Amino acid sequence: MTISRRDFLGTAVAGSLSLGLLDSKGNGQESKKNEAVPSGKRPIIICAHNGYNYLDDAYPFLAAGGDTLDAALKVVKGPEDDPNDTSVGLGGLPNEEGVVELDACCMHGPTRRAGSVGGVRNIKNVSQVAKAVMNHTGHVMLVGEGAERFAVAQGFPRENLLTEHSRKIWLLWKEYHSTGDWWGPGLADPHWQPPREKPQVGLWQERYRRLDEIAANLGIAPEFRNEAVHKVLFPPTGTIHCSALNDKGEISGCTTTSGLAYKLPGRLGDSPIIGAGCYTDQDVGSVGATGSGEENIKVAGAHTIVENMRRGTSPQDAGMDALKRIARNYNNDMKKLQFVDMVYYILRKDGAYAGVSLWDSYEASKPHTIAVHDGTKRQEKTVALFQGASRDFPPDPKVPAEVMKEFK
Ligand code: GLY
Repeated sequence: MTISRRDFLGTAVAGSLSLGLLDSKGNGQESKKNEAVPSGKRPIIICAHNGYNYLDDAYPFLAAGGDTLDAALKVVKGPEDDPNDTSVGLGGLPNEEGVVELDACCMHGPTRRAGSVGGVRNIKNVSQVAKAVMNHTGHVMLVGEGAERFAVAQGFPRENLLTEHSRKIWLLWKEYHSTGDWWGPGLADPHWQPPREKPQVGLWQERYRRLDEIAANLGIAPEFRNEAVHKVLFPPTGTIHCSALNDKGEISGCTTTSGLAYKLPGRLGDSPIIGAGCYTDQDVGSVGATGSGEENIKVAGAHTIVENMRRGTSPQDAGMDALKRIARNYNNDMKKLQFVDMVYYILRKDGAYAGVSLWDSYEASKPHTIAVHDGTKRQEKTVALFQGASRDFPPDPKVPAEVMKEFK
């Protein structure tokens, strides 16, 4: 794939940043010189692709002297408020009980503070609740009911986050998995059929047709049925991360998500974990993640990348190292890694940045991208550790091409 390094037009001379490093005793020592990665423009905002539309408001705010965390929060508020983004905030796909549970965290570089919330119900803008935890408590992380009550006390409105669209997709998921429970048509239903003894030829056609029929019965409009069926068969993880750097070199970041669709109630992914879903160090830079939360937590991805950059590694190589750690956790077994999806958004304090991903695309043909605004707004492909697309999880047999075509 095309390497998605930024064009450094108009940027300063190649940086030779010399960054301090603490040894195990906490003493400072000179780290190796940074590779010749040019510093970038400042101010700059980077984020996941679903933040692209919201950069237009956030960038002028940052350029006019707005706080770096507030600029990043402006970007992620867009998807949090958007009922059609089923991966974040209002309209996020719910847990297995049909309840939307949101996670978020933020770090403010200039004041070296952090806030985080996990498993929050009924409150849409959890990234701002994370900021409120940072500003108005002596804690860093609140979860569940306590976080919800705190948010209400801070003036956040309680609202129903489960849109009709997401509720119907969840119901479709419920009914699809009904053979082993009491959801969906029971024995008395005229359409009930005994389970098949053996897998059939055309199993996928049958699966898609059955799901399509249930979706129609649930009132999912024809134009949304394919998307709904896909989200039932392959539960998505979607998220948004955003990092912002101003012209003074102040830097902040935040990450917010509804997490893995149909997750077990109480499951936390990487997004609320400081050091996994987001990490900002005013001396070095800011990093965030989208993708498989479980894998990212195990490598403390965002923190690992910041620490790599602190030692002088370039943003891209710092990210590649974290991706390699994920691969190493599976002994580089591609049979397993093909089901893992991970993207890191990396911003160094001098404006140099990188978007890196385990695979270059997902869902067969959609390239992973990073959205950037440094005076020019654009989307760039990430640099991938492995070529090709990740596969959807769970590892069902590949959907045959003719079935995909029929249901496109
Ligand atoms: N990366 C989002 C999650 O796994 O919850």
